[in-house]
Amino acid sequence: MTACLFGKPKQYSFTDRSAVVLSTLAKNLKLNAVNYTAAELPSDTQDEKTSADDSHVTAVRTPVANLRFLDWVEASNDEIAEYDADLFLAADVVFDPVIIEPLVRVISVLLRKSSCYGIISCTIRNPETFELFIKSLDSADVHIETLDHTPSNIYFYDRIAEVRILRLTKSRVH
Ligand SMILES: C[S@@+](CC[C@H](N)C(=O)[O-])C[C@H]1O[C@@H](n2cnc3c(N)ncnc32)[C@H](O)[C@@H]1O
Repeated sequence: MTACLFGKPKQYSFTDRSAVVLSTLAKNLKLNAVNYTAAELPSDTQDEKTSADDSHVTAVRTPVANLRFLDWVEASNDEIAEYDADLFLAADVVFDPVIIEPLVRVISVLLRKSSCYGIISCTIRNPETFELFIKSLDSADVHIETLDHTPSNIYFYDRIAEVRILRLTKSRVH
């Protein structure tokens, strides 16, 4: 939300495969007066009346936000490439070995655009799962840079698990 409001993107897409998460995102966008569109959402998500011309959503912010259903397992490469992203952001998405392969495919397809890079915040609850993610990225020729960051004490969160922030780019063959 902060990147969408203050990063001044031309367009920002929020994605998930969960109707509950998408509904919560819709509420947060309304609370922050972000104008957004919500095409292609499953019908149970549409119940939240997610619409760009919803009367109390005022277009006071410049970026155009989209709420979009995206399932890393089901999405075709073409659907993923349609995002045409310059930057993708993700937090706490490496939590289950089963989703690593589909997630790395999504990342690889997004990184086909040469100007694209990703920032992923990983909470390391299980080091083996994180290692598997790193190996899978490596096999997919994704370059990984671990960014320095100072954990903030502003928010309440689990301070026991380590958080690593990765910058992902396509490895260039020299
Ligand atoms: C641990 S939560 C993290 C949520 C949020 N990014 C955060 O940091 O609070 C993981 C998120 O990944 C989503 N997710 C899991 N499997 C997915 C899949 N196959 N396709 C798309 N999203 C998925 C879940 O719906 C959930 O919102």
